[in-house]
Amino acid sequence: MVVAGLVSLTILYCSPSTPKNCPSPLPNLKQEESYSTKKSDALTNKIIEDKPILLLWFWPENYFFDFSDCKTIFNIDGCHLTDNRLLYEKSDNVLIYHKAISWDLSNLPPSPRPLFQKWIWFNVESPTNTRKKPGLENLFNLTLSYREDGDIPVRMRLKTRKTPADDFVIPKKDKLVCWIVSNKATYTGAGTRNKYYEELRKHINVTVFGKAFGKFLDYNQYYPTLASCKFYLSFENSIHKDYITEKLNGPLAVGTVPVVLGPPRKNYENFVPGDAFIHVQDFPDPKSLAEYLLQLDKDDVAYRRYFNWRKYLVATPHLIQRTQEFVLAICTACDYVAHHKEYKDAHNIYDWFFH
Ligand SMILES: *[C@@H]1O[C@H](CO)[C@@H](O)[C@H](O)[C@H]1NC(C)=O
Ligand SMILES: *[C@@H]1O[C@H](CO)[C@@H](O)[C@H](O)[C@H]1NC(C)=O
Repeated sequence: MVVAGLVSLTILYCSPSTPKNCPSPLPNLKQEESYSTKKSDALTNKIIEDKPILLLWFWPENYFFDFSDCKTIFNIDGCHLTDNRLLYEKSDNVLIYHKAISWDLSNLPPSPRPLFQKWIWFNVESPTNTRKKPGLENLFNLTLSYREDGDIPVRMRLKTRKTPADDFVIPKKDKLVCWIVSNKATYTGAGTRNKYYEELRKHINVTVFGKAFGKFLDYNQYYPTLASCKFYLSFENSIHKDYITEKLNGPLAVGTVPVVLGPPRKNYENFVPGDAFIHVQDFPDPKSLAEYLLQLDKDDVAYRRYFNWRKYLVATPHLIQRTQEFVLAICTACDYVAHHKEYKDAHNIYDWFFH
């Protein structure tokens, strides 16, 4: 343990700007161990443990999945993911799901943490839906969230095509505007979108699905249903910079035009082309938006323009089963730690996240 401490101190004080001078923590610790193990074992260990260990401290919402999904779904394989707390002392990174932390912080990993170890604050909710548990401000080294200015931003991103493709066929539509929504609770910030919807539906027919309307949609019906609508209401529950979720990705993935309510248009355009979506703020009121959608319904040429971006870009369907909700975030963390070994201190996460 003393040797381990010294090794880690070296790491702690070596400059991030000269990473080559920095010994990587794990191989050193491993060597130390291997003195007492047989050579062949040491060799096997070394091969396995060359990847940084990422310990998932809590399973978010108890949605278990197979860690090998990171490889099979996203081709992410650069870390050793585990939920085995016995590996705590050896873990290079510990991923800690904010919502699962108890208010008295008693279920956090034990302190003091190994000096080389980084704690990752894992929160995919918006500030409106994040409780400010006191005492967490200065504990973390990295943040995993939807925020682009955080350390590890998580989202589905459009990919550039290797060669332009002109062959997109718009799926058959038998509905005009659709909305799938599970939550109408105003305390989650959903009041804005509820109000907008109530106004909009006076002027245009909106086909609604989801728990909020008592019309539960099975996950295997999600994409086919989306595809059958000309427009889809990609309304976020609360409005924050970069808080643009899979509600936008879904319609893009299947060939439906998203009508977005969330941060300003400029923010959306950081992620998708401006002609891939309609923003509610492009119109003075819900009535004008409805009129525009009705007009597009009659004008195929104008409607088709919302698919021009597909010539160069591709949207990939996101995972939609309940238990898969956190797969992308956890795999993204794995990919990040595989490529970033430098010293890091996240400073006051609340000052950053809530402002
Ligand atoms: C919505 O659809 C119904 C029946 O299909 C129709 O009677 C009604 O006028 C429509 N409402 C609007 C606002 O278009
Ligand atoms: C991680 O963050 C903590 C708290 O901010 C800091 O004390 C520690 O030195 C950091 N460790 C590493 C390895 O970055």
